[in-house]
This record gives sequence, C-alpha cells and structure tokens, in this order.
Amino acid sequence: MNILQYSDNPAVAQAISAIADPRQIRVLFVCLGNICRSPAADGIMHRLVEERGGADRWFIDSAGTGGWHVGDLPDPRMRAHALRRGLTLDHICRQVRPSDFDDFDLIIGMDSGNLARLHEMAPSIEAEQKILPMAAFFGDYSAFDHVPDPYYDGAQGFETVLDILEDATVNLYDTVTANLPLT
Ligand code: 4NP
Repeated sequence: MNILQYSDNPAVAQAISAIADPRQIRVLFVCLGNICRSPAADGIMHRLVEERGGADRWFIDSAGTGGWHVGDLPDPRMRAHALRRGLTLDHICRQVRPSDFDDFDLIIGMDSGNLARLHEMAPSIEAEQKILPMAAFFGDYSAFDHVPDPYYDGAQGFETVLDILEDATVNLYDTVTANLPLT
C-alpha cells in the first residue's frame, strides 16, 4: 500500500497531526444503526491492532447516529458473516454522544449521511476536523466512495462490507502509525 496516498489527503493529515498524545490513538467508527458497519469496523480494527501491534496504544469504539438499536448486539447477519472470518462481534449498540468529540481523536463515518450528521453535532471547528470518511482509507476498494449500508441487502452485501472494512482498516492503521511515530 502507498502510505502517501492517504496522508496526502489534507483532512486526514490534519486529523492525524492534531492527535495530542501519540501514545494514545482514539478512534470511533460511526454508521447509522451501529449494528452492521461500525461494529464490524470496530471488531476488525481490534483484531488488527492485536495482530500488528499496538493494542495498548489504540482505543477503539463504535456508535450510531440513530438510536433504534441501542443496547442490542450487532445484527445476526453481520455476526454470522464476521464469524466466518473468525471474528466474534459482541459490541453493544450505542448512539453517538456529545462527549465523543472530546473522547476520540478520529471519528470515522461510513457514508455521507453519517458524516453530515456528525458535522451537525460537532461543537467546534476542532471537533469537526476529527471527522473523516472511511472512504479516505479505501485502497483496493477505491471504486467505492462510501461503505454501503447492508441492512436491506442480501448475504453478498455483508461480505462486501467486510471486504471493504478489512481494506480500509489496514490503510488507516498504516497511515496513522507511519505519520505518528513514537519518539
Ligand atoms: P448500519 O446498518 O448503519 O450499518 O448499522 C443499519 C442498521 C439498522 C438500520 C439502518 C442501517 N435501521 O434503520 O434500523
């Protein structure tokens, strides 16, 4: 992968450079319901930092802009598809809250609707600069410009989402670690 491809994106570069403490990278993945895309991104990223190193450096969570499923486990279809890849998704659904803009460095939205809602909620310019599209980290899936909502799709939709998220999370990890060295 080409690290420059992502850090050349001014919004990505700005958000990474604003991370206050390079020893702690706090990432919140956001979708609409917090039962399909963002808990999958959360689970994939947790596994990635365990495998690649830095599990104690990364604080990873997910949330939804909508509140319909608060308290629920991820959608059974997403859990089943993730399990086929050896990944157990056990996140409990929660809604985005105002304190998330203080508690996280990078707030990553899956599609334009999620991003628009996050921009509405952000309390300051600095908070808005934490908001990035997941699409900023697409490599193999750069033909897509968002992570499609699989909720009303069949099985292939869930597989596609997992493929896109596996690609984007690797590029996110590589971009942040390359641009935020521990000195
Ligand atoms: P997600 O998918 O945003 O990827 O979690 C959805 C889950 C639930 C609904 C919409 C999208 N819903 O309308 O309940």
